[in-house]
Amino acid sequence: MKDFYVLAIESSCDETSMSIVQNGHTGIATVTFTQMDTHAHYGGVVPEIASRMYVESIILLLDELLKKAKKNIEDMDAIAVTYGPGLVGSLLVGIECAKTLSYMYQKPLIPVHHIAGHIYANNLKEKMEFPLLALVVSGGHTDLILMEDHYSFKRIGGTLDDAVGESYDKVARVLDLPYPGGPKVDMLAHQGMDTYDLPLPLDDQSYNFSFSGMKSAVINLNHKYAQKDIPICKENLACSFQNRVVQILTKKTMRALEEFHVKNLIVAGGVAANKGLREKLTELCQEKNIHLSIPDLKYCTDNATMIGAAAYYAHLKGITADLSLNAKPNAKLYDEI
Ligand code: KG4
Ligand code: ZN
Repeated sequence: MKDFYVLAIESSCDETSMSIVQNGHTGIATVTFTQMDTHAHYGGVVPEIASRMYVESIILLLDELLKKAKKNIEDMDAIAVTYGPGLVGSLLVGIECAKTLSYMYQKPLIPVHHIAGHIYANNLKEKMEFPLLALVVSGGHTDLILMEDHYSFKRIGGTLDDAVGESYDKVARVLDLPYPGGPKVDMLAHQGMDTYDLPLPLDDQSYNFSFSGMKSAVINLNHKYAQKDIPICKENLACSFQNRVVQILTKKTMRALEEFHVKNLIVAGGVAANKGLREKLTELCQEKNIHLSIPDLKYCTDNATMIGAAAYYAHLKGITADLSLNAKPNAKLYDEI
């Protein structure tokens, strides 16, 4: 079969990334422009700054990508782009670029949901086997998604309030750690002990999660100690917080695998980089004979390679868009356009 090359663009948050991906499983080249340092200065992503910086960088990136991959746009079989969810201004820069390339070079345009991209980051590592359960844990999402086949997504539960990455970032702020706080909390957690009495959030029979109470519990504990002039041990607080988060995520995930008779688990999204979560899931999956797949670290956080991987399977399902494609900041994975 002829190889299928996709030029993919991802610009949903604070990074613009472009990639060329072959047959949904091999990244040929990727270039990324990160604005993290700029936003770290403000303690979070400033949408207006993000979209302005993208406009300035996207054409330079395209040039760099083609040089790195030693390919021309004429060699591509399709142009893929994240259409949502994300920051509208940032998404639009990627979408306009993709639409322009699609029109100029007469290539099909493939719209990709950001979370489909995170899930398909696993396909860059090994062939996805079905049925599978995807634990999606990112800065904007916490979902348990059942897949019976390629590009078929059934959400069985998810967060009712904050996403798990968001909760990490908020707790990091309480601990005076710079944005993005997730990796720093993870690092501290490994240097501390689980000594603080924090609740296990939404420990019920559903597959839903709730992390906003967790953040409040950490803030309250911090205040209580400050009032009594007792110093908080950041390492121990990070460890106690992470243990609770990992415990509830793994508990509900393992129960879902059992209930739905699924033997394949994949983890997706920025928090898939979390060492504590990776370690605990590896241990539990070995015990229960579950095949676990977690993307390589560089494909856990936002990148265009994962969008190119998902695009191949979207293409096989006949998913395309025309030039009226618009950003969908609140796009839902289970009602694909
Ligand atoms: O998937 P992603 O790059 O962007 C979204 O789609 O949201 O995820 C970013 C999130 C941030 O909240 C960041 O703090 C979190 O992933 N994150 C982590 C770790 N690495 C990134 N959270 C916990 N532990 C980590 N090691
Ligand atoms: Zn993401």
